[in-house]
Amino acid sequence: CGITACAAPRGTDVLETLVDGLRNLEYRGYDSSGVAVRNDDGLTVVKREGEIDVLADALADTAPAGAVGIGHTRWSTHGPPTDANAHPHTGCTDDVSVVHNGIVENYASLREDLLARGHTFTSETDTEVIPHLIEMYRGEGLSPEDAFRATIERLEGRFAVAMLVDDHETVFAARDGSPLVVGVGEDRRFLASDVPSFLEHTNRVAFLEDGDVVKLSPGDHEVTDLGGHPVDRPVQTVDWQAEDAQRDGFDHYMLKEIHEQPAALDRAIQGRITDDNDVRLEGFPAGEFADVGAVHLIACGTSYHAALYAQQLLANRDIPAQVFSAGEYTTTPAPVRDDTLVVAVTQSGETADTLSSLDIAAERGARTLAVTNVIGSTAARTADDALFIRAGPEIGVAATKTFSSQVAVLALLAERIAEDVSGTVHSDREALLAALERLPADVQDTLQRSPVESLATELRGREEQFFIGRGYGYPVALESALKFKEITYEHAEGFAAGELKHGPLALVTSDTSVFAVFTGRHDEKTLKNVEEVRARGAPVVAIAAESDHEVAEAADEFLPIPDTHPVAAGLLANVQLQLVSYRVADLLGRSIDKPRNLAKSVTVE
Ligand code: G6P
Repeated sequence: CGITACAAPRGTDVLETLVDGLRNLEYRGYDSSGVAVRNDDGLTVVKREGEIDVLADALADTAPAGAVGIGHTRWSTHGPPTDANAHPHTGCTDDVSVVHNGIVENYASLREDLLARGHTFTSETDTEVIPHLIEMYRGEGLSPEDAFRATIERLEGRFAVAMLVDDHETVFAARDGSPLVVGVGEDRRFLASDVPSFLEHTNRVAFLEDGDVVKLSPGDHEVTDLGGHPVDRPVQTVDWQAEDAQRDGFDHYMLKEIHEQPAALDRAIQGRITDDNDVRLEGFPAGEFADVGAVHLIACGTSYHAALYAQQLLANRDIPAQVFSAGEYTTTPAPVRDDTLVVAVTQSGETADTLSSLDIAAERGARTLAVTNVIGSTAARTADDALFIRAGPEIGVAATKTFSSQVAVLALLAERIAEDVSGTVHSDREALLAALERLPADVQDTLQRSPVESLATELRGREEQFFIGRGYGYPVALESALKFKEITYEHAEGFAAGELKHGPLALVTSDTSVFAVFTGRHDEKTLKNVEEVRARGAPVVAIAAESDHEVAEAADEFLPIPDTHPVAAGLLANVQLQLVSYRVADLLGRSIDKPRNLAKSVTVE
């Protein structure tokens, strides 16, 4: 879910700012949305099921004006997407309205309490208890601020909450586990779950931390702890540009972000590889990882696939590494020792499962490191250290450029760790770093000659798609299958190429497209797997180095990539397959940037 808010001087109308702010956060959820604005007549709340355009249409009719307002775009957790379940929520009267991100874990008992006190509820959400509690405390004579604080104290779970009341030109907000950032404009203040929400107005921001309460008025913001003591959250300038978060003439953010990969990769490695093939990661001097005995990588979704890549990178440098799906790590944490480094790989730095895993790892005494795209994100702040992938904002729900950047940065991290641990530089280092330095140009090359347009027409309508690969081709197979299913809604699965004959082969028919990823290492084995599926009549699309005539001849279709190191080859193959998924989804008319049922940042476990 996404929260946005603005406090502007009297006489200003913030409605458009709020709706634009929500559009910029649509990647966080988009099944319903709403706004509340305040003027001298009180609060007006407008909320609608559906995408933000539906809300915008509704506002065109009613257009409430006001200088202070809050807004919300929702990804349902409690209760389906309906007008009633959309935020903002109010109490029994319209004197208070609240937007909320996260989960109120103790909402059932709070609700029971409030029902017993005569409150009536109109939605099925956990959120609705919040405005009712505020209302109750105000009824007991507390000021809006004190009522807000008293309410926050009663909530259990991870959340970010913003409140507007009818008689104050102020937005009150609090965070505990879900992100909130203040935007500092000349004569107004913004508040949002993420910086892109208000980036067109200001790039001066103050990141809030868990336990913070903020009071936002037009020319000022005041951060305190729950007890009311002032806390200092320095105002920083972020170097993302508003244009970074716009579509720039591309049909979809996803396509734009696929094409941004050369620039993103360039930034990922910039200044991190020296002329004499040393790896320099800011904040991690040589020897920093000398004590690391084992690495655990924890992540979800696409980041999980980047973590799998990292596990192989480390294993190939003799560093014991294990990968865990964060949702599983929280229930069955692996034993850690003093010398275990736990690396959370998370683009947003806000995925709840990953954050919980980080907490568990820290509690058990492990050293923690967040590899993330978002400076100031919860993961970056809670882990002992953070390493940034510098991909720039990613709006499309399906991750593309952040995967490439994660892998590139994790490759550098693996080199650093291996060198620190062993005291030597691996013989493959030079070739790997040279390939990473060439990668932006190689991705550009791959993007320019991708022949997938006609292929997509052919693929549309096949019953299922399998993606296979081994070594670095394995995470690519998983990632490509995930991408395909996310945006085409067609059935797709990824397998380790060698696994196919142990079960999945039973499903292969002439209606199964099989995409085989070749990275230049162990290709002869994958070729055998290609033969196995072709013998069952399945058409094979191979992705391999352009010079690999043997693979080209063995497949029905061939998607070439530049000749390079296997680590980079996997990424290049992934770019080809991103385009395949995109083209097929486009032909099928899918909602590419905002696939049904998904959200970019899942802030609930
Ligand atoms: C969601 C998104 C995925 C993403 C995953 C992990 O499920 O839809 O695209 O890979 O979260 O996100 P993170 O921000 O932790 O990398």
